[in-house]
Amino acid sequence: MDNVVIKLSNITKRYGYGDTASFALRDFDLEVKRGEFIMIMGPSGCGKTTLLNVIGLLDRATDGEYILNGEDVSSISAARQARLRAKKIGFIFQNFNLIENLTILDNVALPLVYVNRPRTVRLKAAAGALKRFHLSEREYYHPSQLSGGQQQRVAIARAIVSDPEIILADEPTGNLDSRSSNIVMEELKAIHEEGNTIIMVTHNPSLTSYATRVINMLDGQIDTDIKTVADHNLPQPIYVRTKKHRGRTKEIEAVEEEEI
Ligand SMILES: Nc1ncnc2c1ncn2[C@@H]1O[C@H](COP(=O)(O)OP(=O)(O)OP(=O)(O)O)[C@@H](O)[C@H]1O
Ligand SMILES: [Mg+2]
Repeated sequence: MDNVVIKLSNITKRYGYGDTASFALRDFDLEVKRGEFIMIMGPSGCGKTTLLNVIGLLDRATDGEYILNGEDVSSISAARQARLRAKKIGFIFQNFNLIENLTILDNVALPLVYVNRPRTVRLKAAAGALKRFHLSEREYYHPSQLSGGQQQRVAIARAIVSDPEIILADEPTGNLDSRSSNIVMEELKAIHEEGNTIIMVTHNPSLTSYATRVINMLDGQIDTDIKTVADHNLPQPIYVRTKKHRGRTKEIEAVEEEEI
């Protein structure tokens, strides 16, 4: 059980009541193991974004059980949801969702505000994340001064800066040309190979070659679910192998020892 990071049982998301009720997710079951790279596909309106939002604790299911890292998070308080989200989950969106009046560096540092890191630690970690994506020389730019591909790399840096175990990406290449799309996918691949769990929504079937599992959804349910990599061949978390996770600074590791 230890390597199961997400377990959804009978998850239902209903909008509206009575005759006008519609279901974005219906009796949805899903078990995600650490190190999986899952691609979710399916027609517009089938519930993909709703699913990511429920998994990412941005939205609540109407019914059903959600176990995250062994903890039942189905009915925890909004404050606890926010703390868990900040610590465990990184989001990447189709439209990047960067904040225009913050610099690139401050955008990337933002998630660390929610886990109460001191400012110096935040900026150091953000600078480290930007370096990884070859964006160091853009630290003091603002989002609109970057290309779409660069903005999405900033968004990926922001998603991983707090070192979450789970990365959720909703059509991260949807607004990118094929070259930028390839760069973004290679970055996600590298993050996955470090042992992180990624769940990504895409409309582009050619990207499924990056996945270890492809789920097709239809009308709020799983239509097909195909694993292309056996569980025992999924990447191990890098800290298990080297204890030197993404070159994190000692300060961050020390703070992360604390319980939330
Ligand atoms: N706030 C809301 N109120 C009412 N219905 C909603 C709401 N959000 C989503 N829905 C409905 O839930 C269903 C699933 O929406 P969702 O956004 O999850 O689809 P999707 O698979 O992500 O589609 P797309 O590929 O177009 O992004 C749709 O029928 C949508 O209209
Ligand atoms: Mg969507």
